[in-house]
Amino acid sequence: MRIAVVGTGYVGLVAGACFADLGHHVILVDNDEQKMAALRAGEVPIHEKFLPELLERHRGRRLTFSDDLHAAVMASEAIFIAVGTPPTEQGHADLSYVESVASSIPGAINDYKIVVEKSTVPVYTSEWIRKIILRNAGAPDSFDVASNPEFLREGTAVTDFLFPDRIVVGADNERCAAVLRAIYAPLVDGSYYQRQEAIPRPDGTRIPPPLIVTSTKSAELIKHASNAFLAMKISFINAVASVCESVGADVQQVCKGIGSDSRIGPRFLNPSIGYGGSCFPKDLKAFREVARESGYDFRLLDEVMNINEEQRSRFLRKVRNALWTLRGKRLAVLGLAFKGGTDDVRESPAIMLIQALLQEGCRISAYDPAAQERAREVLKETVDFAESPYHAARGADALLILTEWEEFATLDLQRLQEELKYPIVLDGRNLYDPEAMAVLGFTYHSIGRPAITPESHKLQAPALPRGVTRD
Ligand code: UDX
Ligand code: UDX
Repeated sequence: MRIAVVGTGYVGLVAGACFADLGHHVILVDNDEQKMAALRAGEVPIHEKFLPELLERHRGRRLTFSDDLHAAVMASEAIFIAVGTPPTEQGHADLSYVESVASSIPGAINDYKIVVEKSTVPVYTSEWIRKIILRNAGAPDSFDVASNPEFLREGTAVTDFLFPDRIVVGADNERCAAVLRAIYAPLVDGSYYQRQEAIPRPDGTRIPPPLIVTSTKSAELIKHASNAFLAMKISFINAVASVCESVGADVQQVCKGIGSDSRIGPRFLNPSIGYGGSCFPKDLKAFREVARESGYDFRLLDEVMNINEEQRSRFLRKVRNALWTLRGKRLAVLGLAFKGGTDDVRESPAIMLIQALLQEGCRISAYDPAAQERAREVLKETVDFAESPYHAARGADALLILTEWEEFATLDLQRLQEELKYPIVLDGRNLYDPEAMAVLGFTYHSIGRPAITPESHKLQAPALPRGVTRD
């Protein structure tokens, strides 16, 4: 199949590379000439596992890059729109890029084509795309508009694409659905997974994935509702964590207890300083607006967003409680990306917290395995960027863990303690066991679990058998 993907952001670039790996001929289109030149020259603009391999494998062969949208549409049977849909000040999704792409399509329709929304868009966008194409003289039976939402997470985007829980195809007639079925056939019939060069299958994935065909409107809603539900799950556990803190319970034990109910499930129940990223914050606001405009006041979503903001204020209070005054304090910060495994700092709770701490007069030395360069664009010279967690910790009054990088869960704690001025750790991602930290001599604060100091731990711990020492 010949496919054009318009927009080479996270979604477009990953989708394009993966379509090529399925065996299709893909033209990736973007109006950012610098980006196109970099991609053609072999650069990989985002930190995404397996993406460099896929681009290398298909670049110049099944995957080409172009800034000529007209030619790309003419050459393709399916045109995926994956341009950005940033939030407006009111929280709506700004669809002007989608509109601009849609209005350029009609002049290039030389045969039946499907136009597929891949960006996250509000319900009714497919109707608008159809109207815009018709308005610009597209013949009604020469095209169809479909919705094929993407559920990929940054950091695992390639495997999320190739080993999805499900593929959602929103199409209002069988002619259009058939094109999308053909595109995804190698995944759905399992033939992709038989190939020797296929990307390795991650643990816990089920193959082949089901393909769910719905109306376009339902598919548009599935995407917004999925993201809203996941954000709700995070805010729910964060609210439970706050109750745990008040009553002295341990949220990790609570998570284990509720997450093992198969109706609830253990995933997306990690307490944190709140969700961030380019999707959840934007999509929740947009879904809220979609509901409002359709006459439903979706107040639950307001609360999900409120809890998320509160998580950051609560963490800031924790830092204050641990250090008393903040002016002039030196803090080591581990994590700048909005989550582990990515270099993306969009809506990063870590960056927001750093900005709040700077306002309070703290001095910050920060480390992130991948996001330092991007964070520097936002934070400029206001923080020092360290070359390792241990450099960041050198001489600091406390260490803050703000992103759930795996690397931060396996630190050399002895070394860390030697570097820190005071052995105080505030963990916004619950990466460590409080008792183990206390035994090692740390004062340790986390989310939804009692704070612990070496002294309080000794008082609480049962007497050890004669001859056995705690150290
Ligand atoms: C995408 C989707 O757009 C968003 O709806 C979804 O929720 C998350 O993923 P992302 O891939 O991160 O966002 O977008 P972004 O990084 O903004 O990239 C969009 C690309 O489209 C850019 O490279 C931009 O240059 C390009 N673009 C934008 C065009 O080619 N044409 C335009 O008219 C506008
Ligand atoms: C999300 C959706 O998961 C994906 O399906 C959709 O296509 C795009 O949006 P992404 O933004 O890449 O993906 O990240 P995700 O892994 O979902 O994490 C989002 C935020 O929630 C991060 O800030 C993360 O740290 C936070 N999070 C996640 C928690 O705080 N607790 C959790 O249990 C899970």
